[in-house]
Amino acid sequence: NKLGIIGAPITIAQPNMGVDLGPDAIRHAGLSDRLKNLNINFEDYGNVNVPMKGTNEKDPKTNLKNLKEVTEGNKSIANTVSDIKKKGEFPLILGGDHSIAIGSISELYKHYENLGVIWYDAHPDLNTADISPSGNIHGMSLAASIGLGHDDLVSMNGSSSKIKPENVVIIGARSIDEGEKKIINERGIKVYTMSDIEKYGMEHVINESIQYLKERTDGVHLSFDVDGIDPAHTPGTGTPVEGGPTYRETRYAMSKLHDSEVLTSIEVVEVNPLLDDGNQTAEVAVDMLATLFGEKYL
Ligand code: ARG
Ligand code: MN
Ligand code: MN
Ligand code: MN
Repeated sequence: NKLGIIGAPITIAQPNMGVDLGPDAIRHAGLSDRLKNLNINFEDYGNVNVPMKGTNEKDPKTNLKNLKEVTEGNKSIANTVSDIKKKGEFPLILGGDHSIAIGSISELYKHYENLGVIWYDAHPDLNTADISPSGNIHGMSLAASIGLGHDDLVSMNGSSSKIKPENVVIIGARSIDEGEKKIINERGIKVYTMSDIEKYGMEHVINESIQYLKERTDGVHLSFDVDGIDPAHTPGTGTPVEGGPTYRETRYAMSKLHDSEVLTSIEVVEVNPLLDDGNQTAEVAVDMLATLFGEKYL
């Protein structure tokens, strides 16, 4: 079916300038040509309007930065995702920082009995206002989607537990805050850390993830943070962490996801061209997206 593409340029849920340019960096890296070569029908609806001005100060009452603005931007993203779903199109959302998952998932989950999420990321983004070391909301989006955190984020655009913790698979985690470790253990969230990828290999990890989600969900959203990949390949991102899966491993995982046909929506986040080496990070993101939509080596 047809792809509906939107840019979601939220940047104030983290401190670095430039993630708002992520959607255009990805477009300039040749996304539409690659989709055309795959004979994929798509429409790019441009960027959602979101608040751009924030502060780097935590609100002492909430321990959060820019809650009001991040909430407002995410509501607009949710509305735009809703329009795409109404047309029956497959949503492809280009971030923007990872807070945009709060808005996208707050709409997507409504279209399924039991939506699953693959969180491909160096970070689990399971912080809440009480435990976040930074107050940056981009580190809280998965928590909000499973019903944990500030009520404005948790209850956005629907019920307060959108995704069941057991319907989440995190792949590539290697920077996990103490409070996040507790949440992972208490809620039984499935996490493949870098140790698991090292030990079992990406082939095993991705196959098991697909199998696991096939058994319990009726749709799967891929939330792809480019810092999931090793920063040797994706330096243009605000919170890089050494020791990630390589380009090759990641591209292999994406090809398995394509072949499995489990995905029902995709977002790619945290591309920051102002921190990049050329436009390398967006180019890698486009390679991964093309693979997700069926591009093969041969
Ligand atoms: N765990 C750190 C925090 O909560 C970093 C989060 C990074 N998140 C991201 N989506 N890049 O501040
Ligand atoms: Mn991350
Ligand atoms: Mn993230
Ligand atoms: Mn295909």
